[in-house]
Amino acid sequence: MQSSRTGRTGSDVLVVGGGIIGLVTAWRAAQRGLSVAVADPDPGGGAARVAAGMLAAVTELHHGEQTLLGLNLASAERYPAFVAELEAASGQRTGYRACGTLAVALDTDDRAELRELHALQRASGLDATWLTGRECRRLEPMLAPGVRGGLRVDGDHQIDPRRLASALLTACERAGVVLHRDRAARLTVVRDRAVGAVLADGRALGADQVVLAAGSLSGRLDGVPDEARPPVRPVKGQVLRLRVERPYAPFLSRTVRAVVRGGPVYLVPRADGELVVGATSEELGWDTTVTAGGVYALLRDAHELVPGITELPLTETRAGLRPGSPDNAPMLGPTTLPGLSLATGHYRNGVLLTPVTGEVLAEVLTTGAPPDFARAFTPLRFGPASPASPASPASPHPPVRLERTA
Ligand code: GLY
Repeated sequence: MQSSRTGRTGSDVLVVGGGIIGLVTAWRAAQRGLSVAVADPDPGGGAARVAAGMLAAVTELHHGEQTLLGLNLASAERYPAFVAELEAASGQRTGYRACGTLAVALDTDDRAELRELHALQRASGLDATWLTGRECRRLEPMLAPGVRGGLRVDGDHQIDPRRLASALLTACERAGVVLHRDRAARLTVVRDRAVGAVLADGRALGADQVVLAAGSLSGRLDGVPDEARPPVRPVKGQVLRLRVERPYAPFLSRTVRAVVRGGPVYLVPRADGELVVGATSEELGWDTTVTAGGVYALLRDAHELVPGITELPLTETRAGLRPGSPDNAPMLGPTTLPGLSLATGHYRNGVLLTPVTGEVLAEVLTTGAPPDFARAFTPLRFGPASPASPASPASPHPPVRLERTA
């Protein structure tokens, strides 16, 4: 066990949750000279094991989410330097590819929706170029002949979230982060202050500060007072993995996505030949069943977009849970309970927001407050006297769209 600054057995910081958000928090805090422990039965797992890894600040823009867009762009901008530093620290590759994205339309309705998105992107000062169907197919010859037009977004890249998680885990270990491979069962609160957690096996871990970064499970830790408990709910996503055999070149060179019959579908081609097809978005509580309906809908829509995918081996089907927040934006920073901070609620942007989350939480843990650019994402915005939410103060849309049901 480590010894904390206050002399108690434990650490300066205990991070509850060892997914990519918990690990980046732990790594960045350790780099600032804090002693850090992480509690997770399966560190490096969580939603990152399912996620496709699109860094889609521009193509996943929604009305009413302009404040969130600022954070997303800040994180996308940090990605190249973050990846270089993480790969050097871990000795591992992350699969980061600056490949860009092509969002296409298959029919008149899709095209109208894409035109709306383009107008919103331009109004937000973002780079996106409208292409005819023929121009789309010239870029990506495997696209269906029926593609009616598209948006070329050269700034939306991708990373392999499994490699990212593995690299973060190694970087944490090399930085001296202590991993407790067990579930945190209960937050320890003494005299109205979080001072650690008790693990499922009964071990008590002390810490000067606790960060709750348990993804969709963040609202379920016992011992957290109601007013500090994050309003996070699980949003199921089913994702498929296919394999493109060598040579990869004729298949897809960049992420291709579309809205088909009102539901988004995306194909993310990795440099190693993996092709990820995602994702459903289902409000079904804690269910992580891969359903025939979900797989069917994804394959049907992906096939309409890129007919050649039916030739490829289907290597994996999996479902995971996004941590949804009431306004689709993350909760980053101190709670009403002294000693307890949050890094959760990233919803569909967890991979994209990993670099900036590490930076924000390191600042919170060393100075007590987030940097100015992240203040809008305070967890206190959901409190009784909350300021306007960052993501959707006047959104014409409901906070979460049920994009497709299996
Ligand atoms: N950002 C992609 C998804 O959540 O499905």
